[in-house]
Amino acid sequence: MISYTRLFTSVCALASTAAALNTLEVSGKDFVDSETKDRFQIIGVDYQPGGSSGFTSKLDPLSDGDVCLRDAALMQRLGINTIRVYNLEPSLNHDECASIFNAAGIYMILDVSNPLAGGYLDRTAPWTTYSAIYYEQVFGVIEGFKNYDNLLGFFAGNEVINEEATYMAPKYVRAVVRDMKDYIAKNADRAIPVGYSAADIRDILMDTIHYFECDLKNSTSSRADFFGLNSYSWCGTSSYTSSGFDTLTEDFANATIPVFFSEYGCNEVKPRVFTEVQAIYGVEMTQAFSGGLVYEWTQEDNEYGLVKINNSDTVTTLVDYDNFQNQLNKLDMDRIMSSNSTQTSVEAETCSVSLITSKTFYDAWDLPEVPSKVSDYIKNGLPDAPTGKLVSVSSTTIPQTVYDYTGKEITGIKFEVKSGANTPSNSSSSSGSSTSGSSSSSGTSTSTNAASPNGAPSLAFGGAAGFFMLLASLL
Ligand SMILES: *[C@@H]1O[C@H](CO)[C@@H](O)[C@H](O)[C@H]1NC(C)=O
Ligand SMILES: *[C@@H]1O[C@H](CO)[C@@H](O)[C@H](O)[C@H]1NC(C)=O
Ligand SMILES: *[C@@H]1O[C@H](CO)[C@@H](O)[C@H](O)[C@H]1NC(C)=O
Ligand SMILES: *[C@@H]1O[C@H](CO)[C@@H](O)[C@H](O)[C@H]1NC(C)=O
Ligand SMILES: *[C@@H]1O[C@H](CO)[C@@H](O)[C@H](O)[C@H]1NC(C)=O
Repeated sequence: MISYTRLFTSVCALASTAAALNTLEVSGKDFVDSETKDRFQIIGVDYQPGGSSGFTSKLDPLSDGDVCLRDAALMQRLGINTIRVYNLEPSLNHDECASIFNAAGIYMILDVSNPLAGGYLDRTAPWTTYSAIYYEQVFGVIEGFKNYDNLLGFFAGNEVINEEATYMAPKYVRAVVRDMKDYIAKNADRAIPVGYSAADIRDILMDTIHYFECDLKNSTSSRADFFGLNSYSWCGTSSYTSSGFDTLTEDFANATIPVFFSEYGCNEVKPRVFTEVQAIYGVEMTQAFSGGLVYEWTQEDNEYGLVKINNSDTVTTLVDYDNFQNQLNKLDMDRIMSSNSTQTSVEAETCSVSLITSKTFYDAWDLPEVPSKVSDYIKNGLPDAPTGKLVSVSSTTIPQTVYDYTGKEITGIKFEVKSGANTPSNSSSSSGSSTSGSSSSSGTSTSTNAASPNGAPSLAFGGAAGFFMLLASLL
């Protein structure tokens, strides 16, 4: 087996000259390329090989170059331009993986928490974990990743606000946004966007985005830069109206920051046919949403995978991979990337109690004070934190054997160094259309399996939340 280290040339000497993607920035309610000003919409996949339990302090999804090279090549072929990674360990070296995804034309959007002790905000009592220990994790991730140009942004929290959360949770999450943005302003070279990833709890969804997107005069940095929604309401061959996507579009049409699906891809009907892709990137929805990320790349016990990793030498692309690819290949990328001045010029509303409609949602913006040690970190930088940098990567064929879902070997899969963002291409489908197999399921369900299948740190709180969320979403 070929070692990935051979794929990197003169790492030290060339480090600073590695070609990089243009950075992305937030402009009104759109993401745009900072150089071309083209609109950027996320065509993404959630990336956590091994599931949330596969994460340890010695191995995270961006610490093994062999694995990243294999996955980047298969994602390039699929048409992916963004990955989301949930759990990261700041002390590990991420240069090779970040550089591989950068060269593949793939951006990264990263959660700053992890499920280990001290690594996350406790939603039931956030004041107990809003501390310097938590910020060693948060600022450690910022330090580790701030120099990669293909870093799209950070999530300050994932589904922290749910039925188990204390009433006060929103102001702590908004404080984390503030502290992260203050840290970035002081210690990074560019304004890396910071946002929040919400559970699809329809009753409080609008309150949640309003809480984070409004402008707070005495703390402007606490405003979120984007809003992710984890939503599983389109199952099988559902439709724009029966899935409730029409309501989401209406609801988010007035958003003043980019909104996207940080997880989507209901698997109640299998195999998944991903007909929602045409809606998400269609004319109507793209006025409210900036694309989304399919949950998730690898097949785990909960069966949301696009590929199955048999072992370190062989991979199988599942039928969901082909079905997703067939949908992506139909997209009109010129329209998806065209800028729209109506969208980029929207401005924030001022925070006020009238923005919050649910009695159960916190309606004040009296953010907690920054702990003094955290304040020192912001001012002087987190001490002794490893900082990453892009290294050179070359085009190559990947060493692993890849099978399609029929068991046929797919040959010649190549990792290609690209100069811009990756896009779907009509040429690469491996085994033709295969959207049959579940025609008996009509998939017109209006229910939301809103229980996020993703784990940490919400996993640590068990399945009861999922049940409650399912109820909430049926109301
Ligand atoms: C969006 O804004 C328009 C114009 O201000 C308003 O008429 C409409 O009711 C708003 N929609 C929602 C869902 O808030
Ligand atoms: C630009 O965005 C606005 C608001 O979302 C929308 O009404 C309009 O149709 C868009 N224009 C184009 C050319 O897509
Ligand atoms: C900032 O403004 C909010 C909303 O008006 C208020 O609740 C909060 O107490 C203010 N914070 C400070 C430190 O003045
Ligand atoms: C990997 O997948 C291929 C094709 O599906 C299969 O033939 C092979 O036995 C699998 N290997 C392992 C170790 O599961
Ligand atoms: C793929 O082909 C379809 C139909 O010819 C076309 O409309 C679409 O733009 C193409 N997509 C890409 C990514 O080239």
